Formats: sequence, C-alpha cells, structure tokens
Amino acid sequence: MTDLTPVTAPTGWNDAPVGVFDSGLGGLSVLRAVRAQLPDEAVIYAADSRYAPYGERDDDFIVDRTLAIGEWLVAQGVKALVVACNTATAQSIEQVRARLPIPLIGVEPGVKPASLQSATRVAGVLATQVTLRSGRFQSLLDRHAADCHFLLQPGHGLVQAVERCDIDSPELRALLEGYLQPMLDAGADTLVLGCTHYPFLDATIRSIVGDRLTLIDTSVAIARQLERVLDERGLRARPGRAADALMPRFCSTSDGAHLRQLAATLLHLDAPVEQVTIPSRRTLALEDSAAA
Ligand code: DGL
Repeated sequence: MTDLTPVTAPTGWNDAPVGVFDSGLGGLSVLRAVRAQLPDEAVIYAADSRYAPYGERDDDFIVDRTLAIGEWLVAQGVKALVVACNTATAQSIEQVRARLPIPLIGVEPGVKPASLQSATRVAGVLATQVTLRSGRFQSLLDRHAADCHFLLQPGHGLVQAVERCDIDSPELRALLEGYLQPMLDAGADTLVLGCTHYPFLDATIRSIVGDRLTLIDTSVAIARQLERVLDERGLRARPGRAADALMPRFCSTSDGAHLRQLAATLLHLDAPVEQVTIPSRRTLALEDSAAA
C-alpha cells in the first residue's frame, strides 16, 4: 500500500500539509478519519468534481487525471498524498507513485476485514465498475477472499447522487434496494463499501438492511496507514499549531458548492472552496473538441 523510498525532509517540511485527493466529494469520508486520527496535520483537499465520476471513465483518463492532480498538489507543497479514491488507486497508483517525489497512500475495498469477520461466508462488495474489473481488485480477492464468497455489485448512479448531495431521496433508496436485496437473498452478512463516496449513504443503507449486514468502511484504516507512513519518514507535524493553520484548504475543479455543503454537514467545517483549474492531456483534448 505504501512506497518506502526514503524522502529527504527539508527544514520545516513536517509542517507541510498532507494532500487528500478524490474524483469528487467521497474523499471527505477519508478526510474526516484523517482529522480524527492526526489532528495536528494540515490538509489540502482536492476534488476533481468537474470530471467525476471516474467510474465511468476509461483507464487512461483516470491515470491522466490522478497524475495531473498529484503533480498539482506537489506544487502546492504537500509532503504526502492520500489517493482517497478506490477507482483512482485501482487504475493508477503504481504509475503515479513512480512519478511523484512524495509518499502515496492508496485505498482499497475492505475484502480482508470482510473475509475475517463474515459468519455466513457470503459478503457483498459495492464499488465502481472500474474498481471491480481492475487487476488490483482481482488480486485482493485472490489474496484475501479465502473461503468467503464475494458478491460484486457495481454501484452505478451512486457517485452521481452523492456529487449532487443526494444521500436519501426515494430514487436513491430504490437504487440501493435493487443492489442490496440480492445480497440479502444470497445470505450475505457483510457489506464492503468499496468507494469512498458510499459512507455518505450509510444511514440510507442501514435503513434498508437494518443489522442484517455489517458495513465495512476502511477510512479509519487509511488514516492509520497515513500515520505510520509519516512516522516512518519523520514527517509528523509539530503539535499545538493554531486552529487557523489546521483548517483544511478545500479545492475543487468545479464550482465547489456541493463540496462546501458536504464539508459543513459531515465535518462541521464551514470553509471556502477554491475553484482551481488543473489541466491534463485528456481534459485539454476534451475542451478542444468542445470548443471546435
Ligand atoms: N470515491 C471514488 C472511489 O472511491 C469514486 C469514483 C468515481 O468517481 O466513480 O472509487
């Protein structure tokens, strides 16, 4: 999960922020865990909402965007990067890790904890189509599924719902029921939330499945992994900095209104969102063809 190439820390580097990146708003569920686990760390959160959902994009597009945003965050001075997106991790983490001069922490669906705790030996995984068909996810199943049967369900439409701040409409509920009922019918007792957008749907999922499914969300494990990486490299921030220095800097490639709304709801942070332009090879081509 981590790249252990030594990084030489310049003076003052410890107080540099950590970058947290997602295709959109889902990474806020990881940011919440990072702030709880590492309250002294400053964070720059980058949402690529203009180009979300990545789960509907081709592999090259995802690598292109993840690399462009990683390079942009490095230019903003981050000391480590959390790729808080299962889809971007699945498709691009190796290429991006090879190109960036800072440690990267990726995310992956919680197949291992699900396999360890399922009593019925049937578990569901809800994730994007791109994540589920990736070689990285297949290898995760090969290594950790053991004798547990995993039912793989692409969550078409769920990222789009969260991106428009819909976490409990009747339409969304009907969509979720269609994904979850077959898992219940097959005897599943565990559900892996394999996309960082899905923890926002936690309450609606629980209202459908009650306590019949245990939900697995890996955001706390990711925050702990970040802590280990910072410790290994001597990159932890000094404690006791002023609250102002620790207010996350929120950046979005769209207008940021929904990012601000969800950050207020989920993190109780009312912070402005900077609209940023992060060009990349594929988006320049898209914009050229739109202008033609
Ligand atoms: N939060 C991203 C993930 O964890 C969503 C991907 C997308 O934009 O489709 O996969």
